[in-house]
Amino acid sequence: MHYHSNGKFPHKRHIQFRKPDGSLYSEELFSTQGFGNVASLLYRCYPPTQIMQVGEPRDIAPKLIHDKQLKHRSLRGFDISAEDDYIESRKPVLVNKDCAIILAAPRKSMTEYFFKNADADEVIFIHKGSGTLRTMYGNLPFAYGDYLVIPRGTIYQIHFDSEDNRLFIVESHSPVVTPKRYRNQFGQLLEHSPFCERDIRKPEELETHDVKGDFLMYIKKQNNLYPYHYMSHPFDVVGWDGYLYPYAFSIHDFEPITGRVHLPPPTHQTFEGAGFVICSFVPRLYDYHPDSIPAPYNHSNIDSDEVLYYVDGDFMSRKHVVQGQITLHPGGIPHGPHPGTVEKSIGKKETGELAVMVDTFRPLLMTEHAAEIEDKEYFRSWLADT
Ligand SMILES: [Fe+2]
Repeated sequence: MHYHSNGKFPHKRHIQFRKPDGSLYSEELFSTQGFGNVASLLYRCYPPTQIMQVGEPRDIAPKLIHDKQLKHRSLRGFDISAEDDYIESRKPVLVNKDCAIILAAPRKSMTEYFFKNADADEVIFIHKGSGTLRTMYGNLPFAYGDYLVIPRGTIYQIHFDSEDNRLFIVESHSPVVTPKRYRNQFGQLLEHSPFCERDIRKPEELETHDVKGDFLMYIKKQNNLYPYHYMSHPFDVVGWDGYLYPYAFSIHDFEPITGRVHLPPPTHQTFEGAGFVICSFVPRLYDYHPDSIPAPYNHSNIDSDEVLYYVDGDFMSRKHVVQGQITLHPGGIPHGPHPGTVEKSIGKKETGELAVMVDTFRPLLMTEHAAEIEDKEYFRSWLADT
């Protein structure tokens, strides 16, 4: 993203910066991909290295099922059971070496511990619920339709306003960025980008907790969860600046690109990581050529697995779609509009559909959680009599 700062920090990097009592603040460089990518410089009340105790790790690796069948899948996402605890609530459903797609319905705010995902960047799409993402960079209020983009290593807590929360999460083993074709050489979003810097909400309210004690942080690394006890509050930052921080972007701020005839999914692209893209399907005007067919054509996206997560509205090319449903259309076999939806789409002026799509360039594998919520007959749903 671009340069941002919060709180107070010295006029030059790596120089003395003192507290009112004369002692030094503790400087921390938070860098990514060695020293070769975006970084931020944080100033803490205490060194971030004061570990009191490390507990036994817990394996939280996704449990894959041994079902290699090549077929279209459908998952009832809202059938994933709600859990009080945030970490417990995160249930991976589709995974590969580049990313993991996780469903979560957490009831309670995180108040007893902090969380740090050292494995992956996270994109948390808020399907239901609102609250505040509290981080070491400051707080980010969120609501329905927000993508929360959290770089790996960010220490955070999520506080929810109610118990009715539904999250669609993508974990990425590479940095999540906005599409390169929408940025100039300096990183600024170009005029033809479907969103711009004003749509990106950055952490503002910085809470500085100058407190010592026993602070539990769960660190996720190599699919293990490590309980760390630190001697100082993880949110003891008095100021920071740089290019690395979490941010929010609302799907409702995505300005759709439309055309006279059907435009392909890349026009909906919002984010990308190595090996996948994330797209936003939002309410928009339909194609306006007099003979246009708004419904998509059948397609063999031969090298990609295509995941659609249905959020809201009528999805024009699908029948029997419900909120929270996931469809997986794997590479290797074609998919397309359901019977009757092509004719039905002709002459329609607009759609109110809202969905998030994840296209991966490696095949996705099903987990045990996915098998529990699968509609096993979905692959037959293109037959005319269904
Ligand atoms: Fe498709």
